Amino acid sequence: MRKICIIGTGYVGLVTGSCYAHLGHKVICVDNNADKIRILKAGGVPIYEPGLEKLVKENVKAKRISFSTDIAYGVKNSEIILIAVSTPPKIDGKVDLSFVEKVARQVAEVMDSYKVIVDKSTVPVQTGEKVAETIKRYNKHKIDFDIASLPEFLREGTAISDFLNPDRIVIGVSSSRAEKILKEIHEKIKAPVIVTDIKSAELIKHAANSFLATKISFANALANICELSGADISLVTKGMGMDKRIGEQYLRAGLGYGGSCFPKDVAGFIQIAKELGYDFNLLREVERINRQQRKIFLKKIEDTLWVLKEKTVGILGLAFKPNTDDMRNAPSIDIIQNLIKEGAKIKAYDPVAEKKAKEILGDSKITYCKDPYEVAKGSEALVIVTEWDEFKKLDLERIAKLLIHPIIIDGRNIFDPKKMEKLGFVYKSVGR
Ligand code: UDX
Repeated sequence: MRKICIIGTGYVGLVTGSCYAHLGHKVICVDNNADKIRILKAGGVPIYEPGLEKLVKENVKAKRISFSTDIAYGVKNSEIILIAVSTPPKIDGKVDLSFVEKVARQVAEVMDSYKVIVDKSTVPVQTGEKVAETIKRYNKHKIDFDIASLPEFLREGTAISDFLNPDRIVIGVSSSRAEKILKEIHEKIKAPVIVTDIKSAELIKHAANSFLATKISFANALANICELSGADISLVTKGMGMDKRIGEQYLRAGLGYGGSCFPKDVAGFIQIAKELGYDFNLLREVERINRQQRKIFLKKIEDTLWVLKEKTVGILGLAFKPNTDDMRNAPSIDIIQNLIKEGAKIKAYDPVAEKKAKEILGDSKITYCKDPYEVAKGSEALVIVTEWDEFKKLDLERIAKLLIHPIIIDGRNIFDPKKMEKLGFVYKSVGR
């Protein structure tokens, strides 16, 4: 058992903290947002993630996890300090590291014995060095410490199982003492461990996410070629993905990637490369294809319905992907805002993201519905934006009757075009 303090109880911090507690470690989660800590202390979870609330409750009960707003308390009572604060993008695409810097300072000022200070947030390469310099500067009592990087690869919606069953654990360290401690806290996880220097660990995170985003944009570019040539993207990516060197994952064409990670990480990586003196033009193209994908889809809606003014369009799915309420960089935002601009009336449904959607899109121009059937009722067409399982099981005959015209424009390819045709739908999807 090791004592771990996680600073920042956002998505990554809270999942990581509760998983380490689940593995038997003693965890203190610290956040300067008193509201969040109050919710957590009262047994609630401020974010939506399947299984998280249960995991937190179990570990609170077992006294393996606790919550505090006091960094000094967390640091003094732990040997490993994980910095998991947010690293938001700045307007120019650079990564804002002010929260990381502030936490590094605060940790340095209060530490009273040897600590391993770990960067858990996604940070540009060489941030570890900067954190080490900062800590040295504010570490008045010359306490011994090590810096490390432990990049995370958690997907929203499956974050707990991604943490407990990872493809690999990357440990970036510069001392054998820190290596031993960080290997030990992951002992119970069955996964290969790769130990690297700190800069390589930092780059692995950027490289992995940017590569996955590249795969998605490649599939989307292919989808456009499929539409132009009459081929079927689902068959093309299946055939490609069966080559073990390529792999089938992250080749689903659709509305492009959204969320809090890929858009931010790709933009951040372009900027980091530029600062280092390398023009990563390939990634700019990945971004362009991603943006273009939403525009092409909007055009598909317009081509199908022609004039949008005064027409009611039903939207299924608002979250950036299924099993999350996260609306950050969700394609639904662009799509809905553009449809409203064209004068369309919007009815929308999402199983969990309605509250977050209202914060971004408001509720004056959108009628939020309680289920897909209410959306379909009186709409000119249904537009599928997020591939929730619930939508795959829709009673399509009932939907056809409720719609003014049986039109479905599917941005996620969840239905079989032949079956839809048989049911009498005008069905348009992506790349087939
Ligand atoms: C991602 C990474 O997977 C994770 O390792 C990292 O730590 C954080 O960012 P997440 O943002 O939760 O996780 O979502 P993910 O499931 O990877 O999907 C990202 C986006 O890509 C979504 O918008 C999704 O709809 C899109 N996507 C994914 C596709 O368009 N096609 C695909 O084939 C796969």
